[in-house]
Amino acid sequence: MSGHGTPIPMISHPCGPLVGEAHVPGDKSISHRSLILGAMCIGETRITGLLEGEDVLDTAKAMQAFGATVTNHGDGAWSVSGVGVGGFAEPDHVIDCGNSGTGVRLIMGAAATSPITVTYTGDASLNGRPMGRVTDPLALFGAQAVGRAGGRLPMTIVGARAPVPVRYVVPVPSAQVKSAVLLAGLNAPGQTVVIEKEATRDHTERMLQGFGATLSVEETDEGRVITLDGQPELVPQTIIVPRDPSSAAFPVCAAIITPGSDVLVPNIGLNPTRAGLFTTLQEMGADLVYENMREEGGEPVADLRAKFSPDLRGIAVPPARAASMIDEYPVLSVVAAFAQGVTDMQGVKELRVKESDRIDAMAKGLRAAGVTVDEGPDWWKVTGLGHGNVPGGVTVASQLDHRIAMAFMVMGMATQKPMRVDDGSPIATSFPIFEDLMGALGAQIVRAEA
Ligand code: S3P
Repeated sequence: MSGHGTPIPMISHPCGPLVGEAHVPGDKSISHRSLILGAMCIGETRITGLLEGEDVLDTAKAMQAFGATVTNHGDGAWSVSGVGVGGFAEPDHVIDCGNSGTGVRLIMGAAATSPITVTYTGDASLNGRPMGRVTDPLALFGAQAVGRAGGRLPMTIVGARAPVPVRYVVPVPSAQVKSAVLLAGLNAPGQTVVIEKEATRDHTERMLQGFGATLSVEETDEGRVITLDGQPELVPQTIIVPRDPSSAAFPVCAAIITPGSDVLVPNIGLNPTRAGLFTTLQEMGADLVYENMREEGGEPVADLRAKFSPDLRGIAVPPARAASMIDEYPVLSVVAAFAQGVTDMQGVKELRVKESDRIDAMAKGLRAAGVTVDEGPDWWKVTGLGHGNVPGGVTVASQLDHRIAMAFMVMGMATQKPMRVDDGSPIATSFPIFEDLMGALGAQIVRAEA
């Protein structure tokens, strides 16, 4: 688990062209959901391409603690023999979700409508994040939560003995909250209805349908109305996890800012609720094309080809696009530093409650590296210096946040002087092969003395 071991300082040196193919790991969101839904079926779910990052491995351990059998067959092939909807056993130890907000929030939902008492914890980052956004709707089902001040972990949830279905309007754009309510609704009788005003990633809806639940989605004036019939018999599935667009973002952005680069990132899931970064990069003038567009396992997939793009320009990123690229703003802000003009990012207050306050973490590092950043509660603007003009040469705190660490490693590939992060160990939560993969393309990332 990250954040508990020795910090790993890393330096990224300016480098020559990045060239080659980048096979990034499986999608983190789909990997968590595959394990959790597999645990909620009777019978064996087979998964290939699972992300074997710390976040997902913590979810695998949690599913075992609830009574499922999770087996690693090697090479990203896993199987889960589940216990059925409502079949979770009470774990005999605390569930430690490490760094993962997705893991803990989805598991809390899945367990909240079973008559079991579960205590959850995580690392210093996760234990600082708000859980009230999940425990509020879970209370409507009849689950009771007691945590630390401000609804923080460690927290104990006493599951509902006689759950009732709920109708819930999600107050923040959050796929984790939506998913927690839907997973809780699985073991409530009747129909659970979740309404989201802004569409967020829809993997839970797609996968619940795939696992045989009766779920409908309707676009209305009130928003996206998702209706789930409770207490279904879920049917085990064979799942091929597409590669993660949020991980693809790092080699793609690195190629765009590093002179001479030409990188192919194959088999990337391009679900429209996830692909906002790529549209934004194209609008900024990046040389980024989709090759071989196709459909796999119900999700759009393509190979991404990214090339060095010397004439990037700053743009206003539409706030309506925020949910579809919420994890990509850190690395977008790095690309923005190499563009001409201002990149204006509005409607992004959720960035302040991720693994770190991502606006704060990026703004501090970018400013130290010579880039002007203005910020408010739910917006920030980066004034680009243009290619070849970004000084760099500083050490930045990664704040236990994998995406902050990777964003600054990407930045160092094209700054005048190297960029250093105080701790790159959180990268293992989502992209354990990051250093090797970037190194094979031509990046010069080295581990430094603490
Ligand atoms: C995720 C939802 C998003 C995202 C996270 C993964 C998911 O979080 O930032 O990395 O898999 O549902 P929020 O629901 O907090 O927006």
